[in-house]
Amino acid sequence: MKILDARELTARFKGRGGPFGGHGDDVRALDSVSFSLDAGESLAVIGESGSGKTTLLRAILGLIPVSSGSVELFGGNIAAMSGDERLAARRRCGYVLQDPYSSLPPTLSVRDAVMEPWSVVHGRARGSADSRAEALLAEMKLPEDLWNVRVRYSLSGGQRQRVAVARALMLGPELLLCDEPTAMQDVSTRQEVLGVLERRVADGMAMIMVTHDLLLAHRAAKRGIVLHKGVIVDAGDTAELLRNPSHNYTKSLLAALPRI
Ligand SMILES: Nc1ncnc2c1ncn2[C@@H]1O[C@H](COP(=O)(O)OP(=O)(O)OP(=O)(O)O)[C@@H](O)[C@H]1O
Ligand SMILES: [Mg+2]
Repeated sequence: MKILDARELTARFKGRGGPFGGHGDDVRALDSVSFSLDAGESLAVIGESGSGKTTLLRAILGLIPVSSGSVELFGGNIAAMSGDERLAARRRCGYVLQDPYSSLPPTLSVRDAVMEPWSVVHGRARGSADSRAEALLAEMKLPEDLWNVRVRYSLSGGQRQRVAVARALMLGPELLLCDEPTAMQDVSTRQEVLGVLERRVADGMAMIMVTHDLLLAHRAAKRGIVLHKGVIVDAGDTAELLRNPSHNYTKSLLAALPRI
């Protein structure tokens, strides 16, 4: 089943202006980006800082206007949907923001932060939602003594990211958008998180994994697109991108990886 179809997506931002208040050139954050994604498929979006990765995720959810092109999400054009339809489509998606400090409500407990999306959709009655949230936190290897503390206190960046992934999985999303969710994890926790996501994809979830790391892209997804200044410069099987990058930019990403 087709989950997502992005066609010729182009997004521009107004230039921020030069040092003397002049009008800077517009930034073309996405330039004619096209790809599609089926249920049970994972796609890595690879690129250096500023290449347009986060902008792409935001455009998919209709959180920023696009200058041209279209996003078909679950068979509907996101820009043409009514407010209610767009909200319904977004609720079928999980989104793990890049910044773990702004992605969680700071005053809630860890358990309630994971539960919250459920309460918003299904009301306050907790019941099975509690055990669902706890199962997700356990799957994410969050120690039990942290489940009742407030998010604001005593959570490291990596722990926050794991809570954010659990929260994004709470409603059983058909599409998960992950913006560098393992950037702050140590090697073994990263493997755990990727393992959890891999099992969801095997069960039919579609996933987009944003990363600047080609190795991680290969670990997380079968297929990848490489973004450079908003343009897809390379695409294909992630194993093949690692083994045989066709574009110089992909080669430079590969060269930047640490050697063992
Ligand atoms: N709200 C905005 N207003 C103006 N320019 C923006 C805005 N958001 C992004 N940009 C610009 O668009 C380009 C792409 O930004 P984006 O955040 O998508 O990059 P990224 O690939 O996610 O980078 P990183 O790896 O650092 O997160 C950059 O040049 C950025 O400065
Ligand atoms: Mg980003």
